[in-house]
Formats: sequence, C-alpha cells, structure tokens
Amino acid sequence: MKRKLLSMILATAMVATLLVGCGSGSSETTSTPADAGTETEAQAPADTQEEAEAPADTASTGGGKVGVAMPTKDLQRWNQDGSNMEAQLIEAGYEVDLQYASNDIATQVSQVENMINSGCELLVIASIDGDSLGTVLEQAKEKNIPVIAYDRLIMNSDAVTYYATFDNYMVGTKQGEYIKEQLDLDNAEGPFNMEVFTGDPGDNNARFFYGGAIDVLQPYIDSGKIVIKSGQLDFETVATANWATEAAQSRMDAIISANYADGTKLDAVLCSNDSTALGATNSLEANYTGEWPIITGQDCDKPNVKNMIDGKQSMSIFKDTRTLASKVVEMVDAIMKGGEAPVNDTETYDNGTGVIPSYLCEPVFADANNYKELLIDSGYYTEADIQ
Ligand code: BGC
Repeated sequence: MKRKLLSMILATAMVATLLVGCGSGSSETTSTPADAGTETEAQAPADTQEEAEAPADTASTGGGKVGVAMPTKDLQRWNQDGSNMEAQLIEAGYEVDLQYASNDIATQVSQVENMINSGCELLVIASIDGDSLGTVLEQAKEKNIPVIAYDRLIMNSDAVTYYATFDNYMVGTKQGEYIKEQLDLDNAEGPFNMEVFTGDPGDNNARFFYGGAIDVLQPYIDSGKIVIKSGQLDFETVATANWATEAAQSRMDAIISANYADGTKLDAVLCSNDSTALGATNSLEANYTGEWPIITGQDCDKPNVKNMIDGKQSMSIFKDTRTLASKVVEMVDAIMKGGEAPVNDTETYDNGTGVIPSYLCEPVFADANNYKELLIDSGYYTEADIQ
C-alpha cells in the first residue's frame, strides 16, 4: 500500500477535485484516457447480454490498479455501477480492471483470481453468490489486498475489509410502508390479498429487503387484514433464483391460476426489485383480469420506469449508483493511501466472521410523480431512455 510520494500528491490533488462535486464528476483533472480501464464480460452459456467488449488499452496512471468485479451486464443497474465507478476511479488517477461475470459464479471466482494475480492492489466486488468467494479471497488476504464488498456483502470471509451499499433494510421498509399507505391498512377494513416476491437466497441483501418489508406488514398479516392467498410467505419459498424475471413470472403464473383465475382481486404484489416486478407484471398482463394491483420494485430500471409511467408498476426504489460509486472512490482512495475508509455503520452487517465496517447510502422512493426530477433532471437518464 506504500505509494510513491509523487503519485500521492497527484492522487490527492485529483481526488480533492473529484470530491468537490461528489457524484457529479469534475472538469479539471489530469484525466487519463477514458479507455484506461479494461472491461469485459465473460460469456456464460445462458447469458443474453450483448457482445463483450474487447479489452481496451491500459494506461498506467501511477495511482495503482483497482479490480472491479460486477455480477452481470444483464441487469441495467450493474452496468451503471460498473461504468460510474470506472469513470470516477480513472478520474481519481487509478487504473481500473472492470469485469462482468454473466451471473456465473465460477467466472467471477476466476476473474477475481486474475485480478489478484495481475497486480490489482485493491478489489471492489459485487458478488454473485455471497458465499462463494471465501477461497479465492484467501489469496487476496495473503497478498494484503484489501477488499470492499460492493452493494452485496461477501459472507464468511475474513478477507473483507469494508462494505459499501445502500441501506438494504430501509429499501424493504420503504416498500412495506408504501403498501401500508396505499391500502390504508390502519383504517381500511380489508381484507386485502397480497403476494410476495423476493430475490436470490445467495444474496444477503435479499434477506434485508424481505425483512424490512415484512417487518412493516407482518402485523397486518397476523391480524388477517392482509391475506396471502397462495400461502407462500416464508423467505425460501418467495425467493427468486438469480433474481430472474422469468422465474418470478412463472411463479406468478402458477399463483394466478391457482388463486386469482376466477376474478378474485389481487391488491398488492410486494416485489423486492425491478427484475422480479417485471416478471410479476408480465404474468399479470397475460393472465389476470381483475383490478390492477399495487406493485413495488427497486432500481428504477428503464423497463420498470416505463411501466411506472404507464401505471403498471406503482413504485420503485431509486439507488443512485453515482452516489455509491463516489463513496467507493473515496473509500478506495483512503485505503490506497494507507488510511481508513469512511464508514457510517459498524453494527448491522456481520458476514459470519464479525461485523464489517460499512458505508450505507440512503435509498429514495420513486414513482410516476417524481421520476422526472429524480431520474431525468439529475441526468441519470435522458427522456429518450424511458420512452
Ligand atoms: C441489489 C439490487 C438488485 C438485485 C438484483 C441486489 O443485490 O441490491 O439493487 O436489484 O441485487 O441484481
């Protein structure tokens, strides 16, 4: 972690410039070419993503090399996470090795191994499966390479130095509160029918999203004001492998045909994120004839924002990846200079080896009324993106 004095001074100057407008980038840096990172997505057989980009030229900046491992290009948010982080790290003077793993665990393990063996001095990893990186990260630990778990906590590995994410429990409580308010659960008589879709059981976040929402809604389930007609409520049953839209869609198909085919009204669908919300929505469009239910989501993915505008999805949680990327760049920079990264939570996220010091960004509620301000005016999307 010892950096040469000159590169320290340069990096300090560049980061100071960057941090003035956290998340918005800056104009005045001795920025390296925009293609200074290498970016590829390995092709897994079932992957539907567009062609992987060929490795670009790498330009050494003297800031040190940072490995950034993202789970997949299939879901829009990870593309944005990856490119925002890459751009901001390059701007701060680092060389970046950015990899996407096509949601394939073995691919991610080998990408991380390559990063360790190719001179990365720090790793930022959004894991596919939180429990599958322990062995490869032993090598990182042996080489004193710090690891920041990005968005998803890496479990049961003492090689994890920090965790940077959005407040996952708060994501869930916001979704639960939304359903509570929209159905006016404290005043309305009900009962209301609700179905539940959460994420991949190997993603620690899914338990927080689910837990946050169910903590809000459980009293109404207990009192009978909310009825889960399918009877499917426990985490394992409502989990969606790989967060796959198709899996959520076919589970919803089965739920509708068994419980709502006779016109019974479905009042709410609690979906932990947008890919599962899309599956539920697709299924409802094809199979359900009753009054349209409330549907929650997370990420503000483009198809889901379109659905919000069309009244098919009620809300999404917006996690501005530029904010998280900025925070991670700050953390990387502090660590690379031999210091400690900024954190704001030292209690919540125990990965099985102890609590991992974390920085939690705050998620924001989005719907058809505020999406313009949140997503368009802020420059996150253009109007054309969501038409
Ligand atoms: C992320 C969500 C995302 C989901 C599926 C979770 O770990 O926090 O934003 O929707 O993974 O990729």
